[in-house]
Amino acid sequence: MLLPAGVRIDGRSGAVTPATGSYAKHLSELAGLYRDKAAHAAMVAGQDPLAYEVVDYRHQDSDLAFGTTIMAPGRVGDEFFMTRGHFHERRECGETYYTQSGEGILLLQSRDGLVRTVEMKPGICAFIPPDWAHRSINTGDEKLVFVWHCAPDAGHEYGEILEKGMRKLVVARDGRVEIVDNPNFVS
Ligand SMILES: [Fe+2]
Repeated sequence: MLLPAGVRIDGRSGAVTPATGSYAKHLSELAGLYRDKAAHAAMVAGQDPLAYEVVDYRHQDSDLAFGTTIMAPGRVGDEFFMTRGHFHERRECGETYYTQSGEGILLLQSRDGLVRTVEMKPGICAFIPPDWAHRSINTGDEKLVFVWHCAPDAGHEYGEILEKGMRKLVVARDGRVEIVDNPNFVS
């Protein structure tokens, strides 16, 4: 039998206590995500910075899981650090992203190609409907920390987004954040 628990979440650091697991992605593990291959290679050959970490609280016998994603600030060329982006394997499963600190953009894309964005900043809880791909992008100068909440067995389907990219890119242009068409998107 699962027992109730109070889980501490630090909105600045993203620490989850107690956590049941975590993983980290360095830039070298995110090959293919960025347009500027030379900039990516140079950063990987240098410090290979940590791009993001995911910390979770999940139990197999529960229908709820939550945790944090902690995204470093940074850019590869003109593209901000971003997560890989995924659909859920279980297509009926949605998710929420509740931003705790920092600022960013949640980029969403439906199976049939609709694109939407939701601002990520403290106080905004993004609703991610079932079967929308979602990618978070840190557009600020600080860590972007958000609490996510979904079914523990929702699963991650990365393939389509990794192969085709997303229809839009979030880039820095003249000191501003802009959402532009992805010239390399494969429809
Ligand atoms: Fe998700």
